[in-house]
Amino acid sequence: MATSQVNTGECLEFEYCGRLGDKKQDYIQMTFHQSKSLGTEYIHACHGMIFARTNRVVWEQLSVRACILMQMRFDGVIGFPGGLVDSGEDLVTALNREMEEEIGLEVSKYSFTADDHVETMVNQVKKLVLHFFVKEITEEEFCLVEQRQLSAPEFGVETMGCIRVPLYTMPDGLRGFPAFLANQFIGNARHQLLTGLSHCKIMTQEEIQSSLAKCHQHLARTAQSGCKV
Ligand code: GTP
Ligand code: MN
Repeated sequence: MATSQVNTGECLEFEYCGRLGDKKQDYIQMTFHQSKSLGTEYIHACHGMIFARTNRVVWEQLSVRACILMQMRFDGVIGFPGGLVDSGEDLVTALNREMEEEIGLEVSKYSFTADDHVETMVNQVKKLVLHFFVKEITEEEFCLVEQRQLSAPEFGVETMGCIRVPLYTMPDGLRGFPAFLANQFIGNARHQLLTGLSHCKIMTQEEIQSSLAKCHQHLARTAQSGCKV
């Protein structure tokens, strides 16, 4: 949580930022540099994808590819760790502060830098600038990061725990990554996940598009039959 919001009642000030139902057309892409000259009516937030490549195969057929850290947020939707930038605070400093608060990241070992920036998207309706960063660590380090999140200050408050993203598709063509994409995500976090996967060459564009198509088919089927048990 941005420190400017900590006092009583103030946490509601930016509550509208997290409301669900953002549309694709609400967002435009910008360079990091361009976003710096936006007016003071814009609020900035930074989120980060920590990941580790792996050669592991599960059940002798499904390639894990990479461990990717996302989290179940306090509001029941999925996002990356990170948060709002305090007024006057440097973007990267804010990201590392949020990483410490939300997942207990040892920033002396794994701090994000400006070089880890991948994309900036602006939600013009909410006047919210979303900066996305990606950081690769080893699989061993990834397991230690996961263990430490249990003692992070915000565990059980803002974050309900880290989750790994399943990147395989099971033989039914739905469970695994396509089903994961059918979850509810905060802001444009789902788009950020896909950007991270393609930026780091963990998945090809064709694989991403095929998983998205399966996810959309599934959502359309359940909407039609109303059979979400
Ligand atoms: P609160 O303001 O108390 O929610 O805490 P915080 O400072 O940690 O902010 P939060 O992480 O919720 O991020 C601020 C805003 O950015 C949210 O209201 C969402 O609109 C958006 N947001 C949150 N998580 C993500 C994410 O993973 N990706 C993207 N693109 N946007 C996010
Ligand atoms: Mn946050």
